[in-house]
Amino acid sequence: MGVLSAVDVLNVPREKAYRLLHPKLVVVISSSDEYGRGNVMTAAWAMPVSSAPPMVVVAISPKRLTYEYVKSSKEFVINVPSIDLIDQVRYFGSVSGKEENKLSRAKVGNGRRVKAPILLDSIAWLECKVTNEVEAGDHVLFIAEVIEAYVKKDALEEDITYNLERFKPILHLGGDSYTTTIGGKVTF
Ligand SMILES: Cc1cc2nc3c(=O)[nH]c(=O)nc-3n(C[C@H](O)[C@H](O)[C@H](O)COP(=O)(O)O)c2cc1C
Repeated sequence: MGVLSAVDVLNVPREKAYRLLHPKLVVVISSSDEYGRGNVMTAAWAMPVSSAPPMVVVAISPKRLTYEYVKSSKEFVINVPSIDLIDQVRYFGSVSGKEENKLSRAKVGNGRRVKAPILLDSIAWLECKVTNEVEAGDHVLFIAEVIEAYVKKDALEEDITYNLERFKPILHLGGDSYTTTIGGKVTF
């Protein structure tokens, strides 16, 4: 068995180890309270976990207003923004809805099957209903079924993959560092 030489590797502080799993697609989670007040929050820790039934998980800190809204309404929308929305995405990810009505700075529409609002300037939307909640350290995992999903026509290929010539995703590296894709699909 080979041994890694200590000069070639860097120990990463364990609380930053997640960055070794980035870049991750950045999404915006929208939700609303029982009075129909909406809110949006940037999230990188969101991923699919089942295809049939279609399910996703989002990790949300209990400190967020989004946590309160998702916990009580049991629904949310995952909005997928493109790189031209980076300023909005930074804002949604640095200010809490507890302090400001973030939606006043966004173009907002209604979800089809959930009460949560949707961000009209996004590329794709997944409407979700929570089925399960799991505490995981300083975040709570909301496991949810996708009940409706739609995408801007020209952003998608026939095989239901993104057309990366037309859609440039926001990819989060960590901290305030982001990247996106250059060029389109590459065949290996
Ligand atoms: C790129 C990026 C990714 C983020 N990912 C998450 C995440 O996955 N889960 C989370 O709880 N907070 C995440 N945050 C932090 C929240 O977006 C931020 O605390 C936001 O202000 C919470 O808003 P709210 O209180 O209105 O819900 C992220 C922030 C940024 C900038």
